[in-house]
Amino acid sequence: MDSRTTRQVQGFGTSIFSEMSRLANQHGAVNLGQGFPDFDGPDFYKEAAKEAIDAGLNQYAISHGAPRLRQAIAATWRHDHGREVDPETEVTVTSGATEALFDAIQAFVGPGDEAIVFEPFYDSYLPSTLLAGGTLRPVTLRPPDWAFDPDELAAAFGPKTRVLLLNTPHNPTGKVFSGDELRLIADLCQRWDVIAITDEVYDRIIFDDAVHLPLAELPGMWERTITINSTGKSFSLTGWKIGYLIAPAAVTAALRIVHQFVTFATSTPMQHASAVALELALANDYYDQLRRDYARRRAVLADVLAASGLPALPIAGGYFLNSDLSGLGFADDVTFCRWLTAEVGVAAVPPSAFYLDPARAPLLARFCFAKRDETLRAAADRLRRVRDLLPGGN
Ligand SMILES: Cc1ncc(COP(=O)(O)O)c(C=O)c1O
Repeated sequence: MDSRTTRQVQGFGTSIFSEMSRLANQHGAVNLGQGFPDFDGPDFYKEAAKEAIDAGLNQYAISHGAPRLRQAIAATWRHDHGREVDPETEVTVTSGATEALFDAIQAFVGPGDEAIVFEPFYDSYLPSTLLAGGTLRPVTLRPPDWAFDPDELAAAFGPKTRVLLLNTPHNPTGKVFSGDELRLIADLCQRWDVIAITDEVYDRIIFDDAVHLPLAELPGMWERTITINSTGKSFSLTGWKIGYLIAPAAVTAALRIVHQFVTFATSTPMQHASAVALELALANDYYDQLRRDYARRRAVLADVLAASGLPALPIAGGYFLNSDLSGLGFADDVTFCRWLTAEVGVAAVPPSAFYLDPARAPLLARFCFAKRDETLRAAADRLRRVRDLLPGGN
């Protein structure tokens, strides 16, 4: 890296995700590491994008988002949660949830400020906070149920706390925060006058009797919550990068200022297509079908992992399973994932990449089940050999 690069950027380096993908390519491994579907999204969304392009909807959109998409986002919230969200003043369209997170953090974290985060956490939270001049204050989620210690959370709040970052359903653990947990978080945010930034990109992918509750809908939280979502996970088209921010008008005004100078506006035809997709999904059973498909994929991968001696922890949401590696003889999750990719031919992601201090990570490996049946079958064929190939032959 050029020596004139800023200290912050020099500190980031290349991620373990790129390393694992490179290793997977090198060894021709079945890639269950990458967190995105290897199948296509619904035709109605793709057709809407083609129609938007052909209809000439190809010039800059309004900076804070195409009106039809903002209306569809507001209508979705009204349908799901019964609240009237004002598309004119409370909704902003971004280039994916990643940009939304970046905008929200730049707007509300300044030099010397602290952002509380549940650890493990999605990788972009750290660089976004450091680039704003702030620091992350982690609160640990502990397996197998990924509960946090309420005293540890309370102790994390202080005069420097400006925001709390929440991700539910949670990547990489599959945790869906309960009503009691959210009430505790809400109470502390109000007591310390803290803004909550909630990343809800997996809200449509939940299982069994899990219920996704947006923090914004808890008493006293609407005025201090920024809800982030995107169509990438819900519509299995992660490359289209249509995200959005929902927040009260005064907060939205700040978010729009940052958004204006980060991307100015997001792809116009994709915004129109996303409006159509959100409208149609409300009118048909698309989300139910998505949930049923993912429940089936989850069951397939859970069985494969259990049969291979890599039993996975239970999850309530998201599209990742974490296998327990204790007793297999590996010093850490990175060593295991490199071995699995090179020797067994299946790539997974080491969850220690989601920790400020990797040494705090429990011994697990993350597998993505947003994959075609044939991909999961190919992984199953290879994973069957794990026990035989283990170093020391356990
Ligand atoms: C928790 C979480 N937040 C945000 C994102 C990024 O979403 P987008 O692709 O919409 O930027 C991801 C993608 O993996 C994620 O897992």
